[in-house]
Amino acid sequence: MNSSKVFHPYTDNSTFADEGLLIVEGKGYHVFDEKGRKYIDGISGLWNVNVGHGRERIAKAIHDQLKRLEFFPVFGFRNKPSEELADLLIEISPLSEGVVFYSHSGTEANETAIKLARLYHQLKGNQGKNRTLSLSRGWHGCSLGSLGLTEMEGEKKGFGPFPEGYYMETRGLYNGGANLDDLLCKISPKDIRTIAALFIEPVVGAGGFYPISKEHMISLKRFCEENGILFVADEVATGFGRTGTMFGIEFSEIVPDMITIAKGVTSGYQPLSGTLIAKHIFEPFSAGVIFNHGYTTQGHPVCCAAAIENIKIIQEEHILENSKEMGRYLMQRLCGLHGNPMVKDIRGRGLMIGIELTNQVSELGHQVSLEARRRGLIIRNLDNLIPLMPPLTIDKEGIDQLADILFNSIGHMQRDGGEEI
Ligand SMILES: Cc1ncc(COP(=O)(O)O)c(C=O)c1O
Repeated sequence: MNSSKVFHPYTDNSTFADEGLLIVEGKGYHVFDEKGRKYIDGISGLWNVNVGHGRERIAKAIHDQLKRLEFFPVFGFRNKPSEELADLLIEISPLSEGVVFYSHSGTEANETAIKLARLYHQLKGNQGKNRTLSLSRGWHGCSLGSLGLTEMEGEKKGFGPFPEGYYMETRGLYNGGANLDDLLCKISPKDIRTIAALFIEPVVGAGGFYPISKEHMISLKRFCEENGILFVADEVATGFGRTGTMFGIEFSEIVPDMITIAKGVTSGYQPLSGTLIAKHIFEPFSAGVIFNHGYTTQGHPVCCAAAIENIKIIQEEHILENSKEMGRYLMQRLCGLHGNPMVKDIRGRGLMIGIELTNQVSELGHQVSLEARRRGLIIRNLDNLIPLMPPLTIDKEGIDQLADILFNSIGHMQRDGGEEI
């Protein structure tokens, strides 16, 4: 048992003492443990340190804001960084006009979107529209509402009941798979009328790294418009350059009704998330309806100051272009794994790439993760999927080192665990 008093989430706390790295420092796309060992950060912290570790500019922006005003709420008051950031977010987002409702995590941003969608329909007189539509393997967070948006049984076990919702088979939407009508045919027209909002990630992340095709995105948007369903793009993982554009939805040219953001908006330098709301959805609230929902420290000035500086870095250092180029290069390097008996599929977009391993060796994903760590690359498997999401500032040399370590780690498992194949 780990002697630390920290209760680690989504973790086997009984074995963690042996496996948990104590990270003490970071610089660029590297981090260092307490013994001074250097690692490539293959997962950007938890998919969020988009601009890399150890940024003086962001530290200074945080420090300056802390000295000026450490906190004042957005409940009934205003603060400058929250307004400046909201302007910037709407300006860079696919929404041409809109507002931002702040929170702290992706979970809260999606919870806000669920409640807002329900309330919006009630205000519009669309009675009974209170359910959600999402992907079976979509992942939108861990509160009861946002967790209800996934169909992954293992994640929900023991926590029900959840708000009611409908699910579409994820793999059917991957790279132009099934016809949308076939995916939706299990939901009766009567039930479709009860759906308030669709939640979708442009690239399904925790559920398996499935990029959704442009055709499916367009068909889904049309379906939503025809049935009075709000389209919510969950950009918690894909936003801020991860897939090679500022927002992951841009490849489809769709304008959603709401966009949820977190992770890369501050690159993890402070906790901050938001629900970006198109002007037409905000209309009843701009006309006087009160949204009885909020968090004490939402729109925190220090977190907003960090986000503003982070977005400036993304824009000034051409990080979107680098993400696209390095994503392409990493994919090219990973071609060497095609045909490997331990590798089932490699898929992704930009610097959001997942390697699906076969399950012929027990806990192969976990074993490969541990082996990679021993060799100086931090990755964290999701069952038999190896997510590769390094900071978007990574260069060719870093990609080569990452790919070499990964190849050697898989090769090691083939030699040492090979007899199980
Ligand atoms: C697409 C997506 N939505 C929502 C969440 C939940 O975000 P958070 O962990 O900040 O609550 C995640 C977390 O990984 C995510 O990938």
